[in-house]
Amino acid sequence: MANVTVIGAQWGDEGKGKIVDWLASRADAVVRFQGGHNAGHTLVVGDQVYKLSLLPSGIVTGTLSIIGNGVVLDPWALKAEVEKLTAQGVEINPDNFALADNCPLILPLHRDLDGLREAAAGTGKIGTTGRGIGPAYEDKVGRRAIRVCDLAHLDTLGSQLDRLCAHHDALRAGFGQPPVDRDALVAELREIAPFVLQFAQVVWKRLQTVRKAGARVLFEGAQGVLLDVDHGTYPFVTSSNTVSGTASAGSGLGPAATGFVLGIVKAYTTRVGSGPFPTELTDATGQKLGERGHEFGTVTGRKRRCGWFDAVLVRQSCAISGVTGIALTKLDVLDGFEKVRICTGYRLRGKVLDYFPSYAGDQAEVEPIYEEMDGWHGTTAGARSWADLPAQAIKYIQRVQELIETPVALVSTSPERDDTILVRDPFLD
Ligand code: IMP
Repeated sequence: MANVTVIGAQWGDEGKGKIVDWLASRADAVVRFQGGHNAGHTLVVGDQVYKLSLLPSGIVTGTLSIIGNGVVLDPWALKAEVEKLTAQGVEINPDNFALADNCPLILPLHRDLDGLREAAAGTGKIGTTGRGIGPAYEDKVGRRAIRVCDLAHLDTLGSQLDRLCAHHDALRAGFGQPPVDRDALVAELREIAPFVLQFAQVVWKRLQTVRKAGARVLFEGAQGVLLDVDHGTYPFVTSSNTVSGTASAGSGLGPAATGFVLGIVKAYTTRVGSGPFPTELTDATGQKLGERGHEFGTVTGRKRRCGWFDAVLVRQSCAISGVTGIALTKLDVLDGFEKVRICTGYRLRGKVLDYFPSYAGDQAEVEPIYEEMDGWHGTTAGARSWADLPAQAIKYIQRVQELIETPVALVSTSPERDDTILVRDPFLD
């Protein structure tokens, strides 16, 4: 049995949605294992466009979709997304959607705190999605979180709520905000509880059953390795581990189940929010990449920062996440460029580095060392075989593969599901 774990190998927005959708149509279960509704996956199927933030991509094809314990769950965002998709004709019920009963909740007080901190941070803003993700993870590791299973016991939450509210009241007071309205919070939870609880299950057990039956499991990562709380551009990161290893801890299926690790890699680089970005282009070329790539955030609508492909960062991500093969996306955005550049190393105070350093000061200071290649005439958009690609585009892919020391498994050439060149099928590997 081959399972597949999909992760972003840059700063998110690599085009995971389409690849996951393509794989989900052949999987028996799709599992989200980290992040929350800060993610944004766009699926284009025929003339329908589905925008998902929280639900696993398998939901659109009716595949068993699971939200694992590693996700932080905003119950109101879940309800809104389920209602939106249902209105688009997608069937969602406890048979095809399971939610881990040990999943921690994102509450309105987490959203408040996210906003208050960002507003107070001035130039030190992380540029979060404002969804309360960081504060919710803090409460999880601080052992104060309210979890999905607690929704069935709201009358006896007493001391747990006390601890949570005492913690937040102290923080809110520091921001000159009134304390948490505890009664209103409990009333809101009471109202949403039946909706959430209908999907709540012992997910690790359901996954065991699925696995014993020989099912193919697809683990769907959100964000990207460079936003990982340990391995990313700290502190400009999200608050979860986005690396492939989290697929296991965030779902309750052992590490051997991770299977083929497919790293999604955009043919150039983008980033939303603040933080270091060595190959960022603030000139007309960056503008052109952004316009041609429609680089606006799915969740927040923010303009993404754009730059050349950074092979150092992607090589690092692939190593840290044990990537078996990559899916290269959005190659067509580079169509028609006279010259294209790839970052192959950094210069830092006279020294050459072949990795991205940990210290934030060094991360901000490194200068990219570029290799320049001829661009290609003609289009790669819609290509479905190597023969459809201009020779120079193939050279670019080969050079990328060489520099990141990881083979290309797929090339995606448009948002359409079938516009894909398959080199190596992750499920059959
Ligand atoms: P948070 O996850 O909302 O706390 O945001 C922390 C950082 O991660 C910010 O720079 C966000 O822009 C970034 N981020 C969070 N989710 C995504 C995503 O799905 N795609 C790209 N960037 C993201």
